[in-house]
Amino acid sequence: MFNSNAAARVVQELRGLAGAAPAGTRLPSVRELTARHQASPVTVAAAIRQLVAEGLVETRSGRGTFVAARSAAPSSPPDMSWQTVALGPRRFGEEEMQALLALPPSGAIPLTGGYLDAHLQPAAALGAALARAARQPAAWQRGPVEGREDLRSWFARETSAPTPIPSDPGLRAEDMVICSGGQAALSSTLRALTEPGDTLLVESPTYLGALAAAHAAGLRVVPVPADRDGVLPDQLAAAFTRTGARLFYCQPLYANPTGATLSPARRPAVLAALREAGAFLIEDDYARDLTIDGDPPPPLAASDPGGHVIYLRSLTKSAAPGLRVAALGARGPAGARLRAARLLDDFFVAGPLQQATLEFVTSPAWHRHRRTLRTELRTRRDALLTALHRHLPHLVPPTVPAGGLHLWTPLPTGADDVAVATAAATAGVVVLPGRPWHAAEPPGPHLRLTYAAAPPSAMDEAVRRLATVVPVTRP
Ligand SMILES: Cc1ncc(COP(=O)(O)O)c(C=O)c1O
Repeated sequence: MFNSNAAARVVQELRGLAGAAPAGTRLPSVRELTARHQASPVTVAAAIRQLVAEGLVETRSGRGTFVAARSAAPSSPPDMSWQTVALGPRRFGEEEMQALLALPPSGAIPLTGGYLDAHLQPAAALGAALARAARQPAAWQRGPVEGREDLRSWFARETSAPTPIPSDPGLRAEDMVICSGGQAALSSTLRALTEPGDTLLVESPTYLGALAAAHAAGLRVVPVPADRDGVLPDQLAAAFTRTGARLFYCQPLYANPTGATLSPARRPAVLAALREAGAFLIEDDYARDLTIDGDPPPPLAASDPGGHVIYLRSLTKSAAPGLRVAALGARGPAGARLRAARLLDDFFVAGPLQQATLEFVTSPAWHRHRRTLRTELRTRRDALLTALHRHLPHLVPPTVPAGGLHLWTPLPTGADDVAVATAAATAGVVVLPGRPWHAAEPPGPHLRLTYAAAPPSAMDEAVRRLATVVPVTRP
């Protein structure tokens, strides 16, 4: 068993000894360290590996651990200032993306982060599947560029409607390509289907990683208003006409950050707007496995015989962020271009990871995990809502999302969401401001509060801390 406190003690002792002794000095054996720090051999080995990686110690096979030779420390850091001249200005969105992926400071309660907290991840099942996959030599060989056929079939079947259109088989294995996570899939799609200078329509607000990827691809981003029922179809049609855009990025199910689901009444109108404009829609179905209430509607890709929808489904949200496996589905020449783009980007996703994923999603553990997740997410969402009702009733969102990971809470008119988020971090609760989720001026200040990253028992204290920094009325 790995014990992080014991590992820290071992690291501290070895670091001290290595710093004081000349290169080549023998350090205490694993057995001595195990006894002295009441640590398991696994913990001691991990601590030694850390110091080897830092270059402080070296291991010699069968002989033990020794102080490593030190390279002379540079007298002053090298001058890299020329690079900013060569590189020009920083790209839009990079800082926001770093904030999105930042780990919370210790002691702070995270109401942020786009992934499940470690307790909700099926780590044991994933680990067992990966260990089995890694032992099979075939998994390490070069596979098809578009990914394993059996895994592509699984993703394709997941998109099918309960009552398919008789004349249309929907997405099939040959339409799918396996990618290393949703963000990579999104970046490849934007690059494959657009030229720099093209316009991308996005529902607003939207996932800031999509905004950042669009800017990195040199696209002009135009927001289309959305409400609790998803994007407004007449505004979408008007935006296609006005801008000449041929691509629209959208999350029809439990959108990040708002939690909105495109209503049944709007789905045909959105598809009609695409057909009318001769345009594509990237359907980012990131939250299909994060349903809390009821059953999710089928993906839009299930009612798209004309091939307008580029379907994207990632497993990182429902399983673990380290499971870098997603799939893109597209038909016709667009599908061929996407597969070609993926080849340029990274050849293919690691074979053991694909095999482990297939094993996991086709095992009973996957269904058990999703059932548990539904209950756990409901408990967390409801605990956060209860805490808001108690401490910050004016931040309770007007609609409760039926799935996903986040609440999108309105701040009082005139409040500065960025200042509130900064003050909240100082008060010991991490939240994200709403502003970076908009491609243009936000209609009002919001916070994104994530309920998946902290236990239900922490929600009351998190919102109590938040209440100390949220203005009650216009400042
Ligand atoms: C809506 C949405 N799409 C895609 C992603 C990318 O996730 P990943 O690359 O881990 O699959 C995220 C991550 O936050 C997201 O929120």
